[in-house]
Amino acid sequence: MKIRLFLAGALLATSALATTVLAKPVVIKFSHVVAENTPKGKMANRFKELVEKRLPGKVEVKVFPSAQLFGDNKVLEAMLLGDVQIAAPSLSKFKRYTKKLQVFDLPFLFNDMQAVEKFQKSPEGLKLLSSMQKKGLQGLGYIHNGLKQLSANTKVKTPADAKNLKFRIMASDVLAAQFQAIDAMPLKKPFSEVFTLLQTKAIDGQENTWSNIYSKKFFEVQPFISETNHGVLDYMVVTSTEFWSELPVDIRAEVKKSLDEAIIYGNKVAAEKAVKDRQRIIDSKRSEVVAISAAERKKWINAMRPVWKKFEKQIGKKLIAAAEASNQ
Ligand code: LMR
Repeated sequence: MKIRLFLAGALLATSALATTVLAKPVVIKFSHVVAENTPKGKMANRFKELVEKRLPGKVEVKVFPSAQLFGDNKVLEAMLLGDVQIAAPSLSKFKRYTKKLQVFDLPFLFNDMQAVEKFQKSPEGLKLLSSMQKKGLQGLGYIHNGLKQLSANTKVKTPADAKNLKFRIMASDVLAAQFQAIDAMPLKKPFSEVFTLLQTKAIDGQENTWSNIYSKKFFEVQPFISETNHGVLDYMVVTSTEFWSELPVDIRAEVKKSLDEAIIYGNKVAAEKAVKDRQRIIDSKRSEVVAISAAERKKWINAMRPVWKKFEKQIGKKLIAAAEASNQ
């Protein structure tokens, strides 16, 4: 195991030392796919700052944004091989490790980000952080991005307008079912390819949050963005159980404390960006933000809601009910 190489053998035979002395700093590679100027990007950079301030010479954090190190499809495999120590994939990207996190992809489940936050902090939500332990992954916390909007080459107000359009989705079967439910064509593609796919018109549209649409310039190649708020795009910060358990206790505690603080900061950024990046897109005049009326919203809900039933067995009825209850 890599970390052993970094630790000064006998001295660290016990991880409960009050102050750990390391021969070399522990290196934490934090890989993510978004731009630095996003909630996750800023959170990762703040985490680095905090850790290196608190654990000088003991821990070094190397952040790799914009899929520079690993893309969505590879990062968790790489983590299990010890090539990356922390990542924060969107909750839609864990299906090979647990089916339960699919709950977050159910369309129109959460009314707003307060409900998402409430569910993540509930006993059921917290339990999900440990749902992949057997597969070697440990969740350390959630971080918000926000609610998803639907961008397209044509104006989409109702599900009928989206019929036969090709939408890029994250690698999630729930999201595939969501688009199939409105007779659109979902295409699973990594985040790093979305801009080019849109620009070349290989696809007609995609779903994402305001900060991702803004920071990756999707609004420059998508003339319409429908304000559907139809689902959530949040993340789980994960590490490998092996790496985490082998960190000396005092170091692990400081790393976790730094992460918790960075997450609070990242969530603040997320809330601000959902408003500011939306406005920046409107101000750019490159893309029209299309309002969805209450009656139109009803049509989306009616069309997409059957997806819940389809995944009820995989996710668990109780878990879905607990998530839904967070709206109250
Ligand atoms: C996406 O693939 O659209 C998002 O998961 C990217 C991200 O990490 O926000």
